[in-house]
Amino acid sequence: MEDGQTPTTVSSNNKVDFTPSTASAYLDPNYWDKRFSSEEHYEWFKDYSHFQHLIQQHISPTSSSVLELGCGNSKLCEELFKDGITDITCIDLSPIAVDKMQKRLLDKGYTDIKVLVADMLELPFEKESFDFVIEKGTMDVLFVDSGDPWNPRPETVNKVMAMLKEVHRVLKQDGIFISISFGQPHFRRPLFEAPEFTWSLNWNTFGDGFHYFFYTLRKGRRSMDNINGCRKTSEPPSICLFQEELEDEDYMFRTNVEELGS
Ligand SMILES: C[S@@+](CC[C@H](N)C(=O)[O-])C[C@H]1O[C@@H](n2cnc3c(N)ncnc32)[C@H](O)[C@@H]1O
Repeated sequence: MEDGQTPTTVSSNNKVDFTPSTASAYLDPNYWDKRFSSEEHYEWFKDYSHFQHLIQQHISPTSSSVLELGCGNSKLCEELFKDGITDITCIDLSPIAVDKMQKRLLDKGYTDIKVLVADMLELPFEKESFDFVIEKGTMDVLFVDSGDPWNPRPETVNKVMAMLKEVHRVLKQDGIFISISFGQPHFRRPLFEAPEFTWSLNWNTFGDGFHYFFYTLRKGRRSMDNINGCRKTSEPPSICLFQEELEDEDYMFRTNVEELGS
């Protein structure tokens, strides 16, 4: 990675700014390693309290195995554990994120949560291993240099499809993939609904000002209706950013992923 892509400037309120100079840095594993070596906790998009009600509609704690993709230094796995979901495996591409997450969980007594270094494009698990796969903001990383969101670059599509095929493979029949994203349904549907996938697709929204999408894809439940058009539980909102959102560092991430600039 070039120098200057990962500035660690300290603002007047003593917050370290990890915003890279170009959004494509989010695709660079070195960016994440450098960031995680000094950042202890950052919650991309929103924390658990904002979508807990949606999780609880889908995940029943009893004997559910959950795989979290790209855990970073988020507290999502701890929150799931507190809600009774104890069979959790987290992966991240960054060895530094994984090492720090393992230490943090051990210090807090969450010894049952497994954390390992792995690439979500090549998951080291047998087929049909998990009841749930969940990701928050991790798939969106693959879109940061997608170009025209209506017609993403073939390289982007290939990576996203590789990831989705892996998620589909490791999910049990009837298992659910939860994707928490700012990508709007008209951009995500063509990929989620590619012919090779047997999952049904639904979504909800959450958040104030800027709305995030909570997609649920249930394996083996795709119907002819869903092939011709999926059901949605709320209309996608128009783009609307509050000042608070504009000041948030992941604003840059979003603008480069979707059509906010168009
Ligand atoms: C935008 S952050 C989201 C972190 C966390 N999920 C959250 O909600 O705060 C993206 C995370 O995905 C990880 N990541 C990026 N590419 C990955 C890949 N191919 N496989 C696994 N993790 C990846 C990064 O290291 C980073 O931790």
